[in-house]
Amino acid sequence: MTKQNMTFIKTRAYGPAEGLIPNTGPIPEPGCGEVLIQVSAAGVNRPDVLQRTGNYPPPPGASDVLGLEVAGTIVAVGEAVSDWQIGDQVCALVASGGYAEYCIAPAPQCLPVPKNFSMVEAAGLPETFFTVWTNVFERGKLQKGETVLIHGGSSGIGTTAIQLAHVFGARVFTTVGTDAKCVFCEHLGAEKAINYREKNFVAEVKSLTGGQGVDLILDMVGGPYIEKNMDALAMEGRLVQIAFLQESRVSVDFLPIMVKRLTLTGSTLRPRTVEQKGSIAKALREKVWPLLDAGTVKPIIHATFPLEQAADAHRLMESSTHIGKIILEVKP
Ligand SMILES: NC(=O)c1ccc[n+]([C@@H]2O[C@H](COP(=O)([O-])OP(=O)(O)OC[C@H]3O[C@@H](n4cnc5c(N)ncnc54)[C@H](OP(=O)(O)O)[C@@H]3O)[C@@H](O)[C@H]2O)c1
Repeated sequence: MTKQNMTFIKTRAYGPAEGLIPNTGPIPEPGCGEVLIQVSAAGVNRPDVLQRTGNYPPPPGASDVLGLEVAGTIVAVGEAVSDWQIGDQVCALVASGGYAEYCIAPAPQCLPVPKNFSMVEAAGLPETFFTVWTNVFERGKLQKGETVLIHGGSSGIGTTAIQLAHVFGARVFTTVGTDAKCVFCEHLGAEKAINYREKNFVAEVKSLTGGQGVDLILDMVGGPYIEKNMDALAMEGRLVQIAFLQESRVSVDFLPIMVKRLTLTGSTLRPRTVEQKGSIAKALREKVWPLLDAGTVKPIIHATFPLEQAADAHRLMESSTHIGKIILEVKP
């Protein structure tokens, strides 16, 4: 490679989106077990917004360049990488560094770009598919024929969770903030989308399940939802918490956990080891990539922005008017 420097996006100071500015610096070199990807597109995720505002620091050792997922072409491989070669087109989950022309990824966290996918579509896969797979199917143990309530159905995470839960045979309910989002999520595979600004989701899911409640809830909201979620769960129900868009500290009556034999769990993806992420990648490749190759499941791309306009992409995400993914495109 003759090029030495690259453009990347860092936040100048924790705070508003204006602080996201293009910088120039050296192209990183892949270490043992890593590959260097020439990035064509990078996904924007809500955790990036939290990082920008100083509420989600990168894990120790990770760079402070924003970005948790990319798609592009491998241009260099480190030692001990046998699965990938220069020229392979991949998408990858990364702990940081995605908003850049070049990005280092651990080899086990790369997956092939699915058949007939553009790089923009492929860049919208890793963060939500890894998160949904490990939380809904591994931790939440969703089974065919069960009922699931997905909060934030129009989010990148929500649009992925609705499609995967539906295609694996669950009855899917979701909550969203507008009627237009309800219509969209019902097209995606939700049996019923509930506008939480107008309806009580607990009463709605109870009525939809003959009074039983749902087997699984995927929640990113927290706050007052925590107690309501326990109310909305069926006997032996599971609550999987993946974020707290509202408070994480609440006063809650824990009695339903005992009476209904509930399981409360949750996880964050970013601090998990390369080995753990590699194991999620393996499961995705076996169980989900054939669905992407066949076009049965697709990421929902709401908008794209040039890399240099990352600040506009963050403003759109903070408006919460989007449905699905926001992607940054990198000029070749
Ligand atoms: N644990 C993990 O490993 C992990 C990994 C990735 C992401 N996450 C989390 O998953 C969530 C979704 O991520 P994403 O990138 O898919 O986000 P996103 O596309 O920005 O979507 C978030 C959506 O949540 C809805 N929402 C509901 N209550 C809200 C509130 N109080 N404040 C703001 N929005 C609210 C909004 O739509 P409506 O209000 O219109 O419904 C909004 O569009 C984020 O909280 C993120 O931090 C967790």
